[in-house]
Formats: sequence, structure tokens, C-alpha cells
Amino acid sequence: MNERRVLVAVSGGIAAYKIPELVRGLRREGLSVRCALTPAATRFVSPLVLQTLTGVPARTELFDTDEEGQIDHIALADWAELVILAPATAHSLARMAHGLADDLVSTVLLATRSPVLVAPAMNVNMWQHPATQANLALLTERGVRSVGPESGALACGWEGEGRMAEPETLVAEALRVLGPPSLAGETILVSAGGTREPVDAVRALTNRSSGKMGFAIAAEAAARGADVVLIAGPAALPTPAGVRRIDVETALEMRDAVQAEFANASVVIMAAAVSDFRPARASARKIRKEDLGDGEGIHLELVRNPDILAELGREKGNRIVVGFAAESHDLLESARRKLERKGCDLIVANDITRESAGFDTETNAVTFVWPAGDAEELPLLSKREVAARLLERVEKLRSARG
Ligand SMILES: Cc1cc2nc3c(=O)[nH]c(=O)nc-3n(C[C@H](O)[C@H](O)[C@H](O)COP(=O)(O)O)c2cc1C
Repeated sequence: MNERRVLVAVSGGIAAYKIPELVRGLRREGLSVRCALTPAATRFVSPLVLQTLTGVPARTELFDTDEEGQIDHIALADWAELVILAPATAHSLARMAHGLADDLVSTVLLATRSPVLVAPAMNVNMWQHPATQANLALLTERGVRSVGPESGALACGWEGEGRMAEPETLVAEALRVLGPPSLAGETILVSAGGTREPVDAVRALTNRSSGKMGFAIAAEAAARGADVVLIAGPAALPTPAGVRRIDVETALEMRDAVQAEFANASVVIMAAAVSDFRPARASARKIRKEDLGDGEGIHLELVRNPDILAELGREKGNRIVVGFAAESHDLLESARRKLERKGCDLIVANDITRESAGFDTETNAVTFVWPAGDAEELPLLSKREVAARLLERVEKLRSARG
């Protein structure tokens, strides 16, 4: 995706404070970004911040000989492969709908031949006003894509529809529009998070998995154009844009959900930390300490849970199956054994004793272990970057199999 060119056009809404995050997100994806602001937008976000994040001056004026001399407004419109208007104010949508071109942003929006994505953001009553709705309908009819707004508490104090879509949602949508999506046509099943095995009405056996690695894989796969189903154990994480999420709690529920989705999947990536054991019996009522004498114990009998990955490995056919191995010792040896036993195409091994890697961290240090026994060690990377490297390998496997 390197060197794809995105123009972020900013109009004067309060949500403009989120635009630096949007620019950073686009830059993280390796996109080349320029910014143009309406005069009103410069009241909400500093062109200097955007210049610092993009590495090029942000344009604000149509009639400025210096700015126009550097890259003129038509060249800017031609340069962009995608224009994102965010936040899109009611006023900017109105100007766009009626073909007005009275400042730099509106002129560029009229001049560009590239796809345009708008992210409306405004007070709920402005949003619901028939004028705004009619303007948006006109724009959509002409092929402008609209993302959001979302519902929630608004900066103006009202509650309702009007919040700008989150920057990561806009980044995902930008990647989708830009394409070419390297995983288009693939259906990818990702499992994430730990499982929770009930002991009684209030207690459970679980593990420290946060789900961040699996969620990052799902987000990256969706950004690459795949249809993604994310089967998630209990995880306090937002659903990545464009991903279908199924929440489960126990290993048995995870197995049922995985089995139900498996038939449609072309790639399966099992990043969940599924509990190997569950209590043989879970008490429907809370076990009270008063029911026991001082120093008296409870015997918790554990039974083995089904080995979901091994089951998939046996039934995989032409699918690509990737497993994860989180280990505290003998990392490569146990990853190699796991790969063989479970019939996977690739194991992602991570050493959970390493600092900043493994459970509930933002980064991960993994080693890809291949069927021939080769091991490919990656440096410490963000989980999203690990996901990108993993999916590059998956893409290669898919194209090798035709
Ligand atoms: C504090 C403040 C916040 C505003 N927030 C929004 C907003 O979120 N959405 C919107 O459509 N207009 C908002 N406005 C009104 C716009 O700034 C105004 O309509 C302006 O003319 C928009 O110009 P532009 O679309 O050329 O940037 C806000 C105004 C002020 C003073």
C-alpha cells in the first residue's frame, strides 16, 4: 500500500480535534497524506500539527500566492487518489451537494476525480434536518461514500446521532476504498481472547489473554479486503470496522462457534487462548465459604476440553490453518511439536516471559514456525504490525496454492 495518496480535507467542526489521530493512522498504514483546511477548520485544529504529522505544509487558502505556488489547488485535487472530508460539517456537505467552490476545500472537492469519503459530524438536530439529509442523499447518489455519524454523547451536550466515526474506522474504510485488497475473496475466521470456565454462579477459571492479538489480526484482515468473522472470548475491546463478531464464553461455546463458521472459511487463524481444562461440574449456585469449616478445602475436578485446533487440522482440506503457541519455556520445540500434532500450516510462537510481549501488551515478539521446521524470528513489533506480517505469509500460502 506504500505511496498511495490521500488528501484529508478538514472542515470546521469540533471533531476536527480527532484529525491528527486520523492522519497518524493513515501514515501508519504507509499512505502518503496531505491536508487542506477550511478557514473555519483552522479554528479547531492547527495546520502546524498537520504539517508536522504529514511532513508537508497543510493548505488553508485558495488565494495565497505562496501556497498556490507550491502545489496549486487543481494539482492537489489530481494528486489525491482518495479525498476524505472529515469532519464533514453540515455547511461543507451543503456546499458540496450544490457544487459551490468558494474556498480551497470546496474547490478541490469539485475538481477531484477520485473517490470521496465523507465523515459527517454535527449536532443531532443539524444532522436530522431535512436539508442535511437531502444534501447527503444527493451526494450518496453521486457516488460519495459516507461513514457515520455514530450515536452517543455529543460535544454540544445533546445525545444522539452526530459523532464523527472513529479515526480507525475511517482508516479501515480508506484502505478498503483504495485497494487493491490483497485478501479480497477470502473468508477469514479468527479466534481471540481467553475463555471463561465456570466454577460456580460467580467464579470462573480463565487466563490472562486480552484478545488484543486476535483483534489486531481481524482488523488487518478486514483492511486487506477479507470477509472476517471474529470469535471472541470475553474481551473488553471494540469490534474492528468491517468485522463480524461472535462473542463466546467457554471453550465448548468457542468450539461450537468455530465449527459453525469453519465450512465457509478459507483461512483459519486461532489466536485465542482456549482453556485446556474446565471444572467437571459447575455449581449453579454460589459456593459459600460459610458452608466450609476453617481450613477445609474444595476439590475441583478438572476435565480436558476438546482440542479445537487439532480438530480443525484434521478437517482442514484446502484451508490454511494457523495456530498460536504461547509458551513460557522450550518455545521452539513445543511449537514444532504442536504444528505436527495439529496439522497446521504455520504456528505463531510467542514467549510469554519476555517483557512487552504476550498477554495484555500492545506489542508482541513472535517466531513463525513452518512445517519443515524452519523458524522465522520477528523483532518486537506492535500487534497490528505482527498481524500484517502474518497475513503477508498467509497471502503467499494462498497464492502458492492457486
Ligand atoms: C464551537 C463550534 C463547534 C462547531 N461544531 C460544528 C460541528 O461539529 N459540525 C458542524 O456541522 N458545524 C459545526 N460548527 C459550525 C461550523 O463551524 C460553521 O457552520 C462553519 O461555517 C463551517 O464552515 P466549513 O464547513 O467551511 O468549515 C461549530 C461552530 C462552533 C463555533
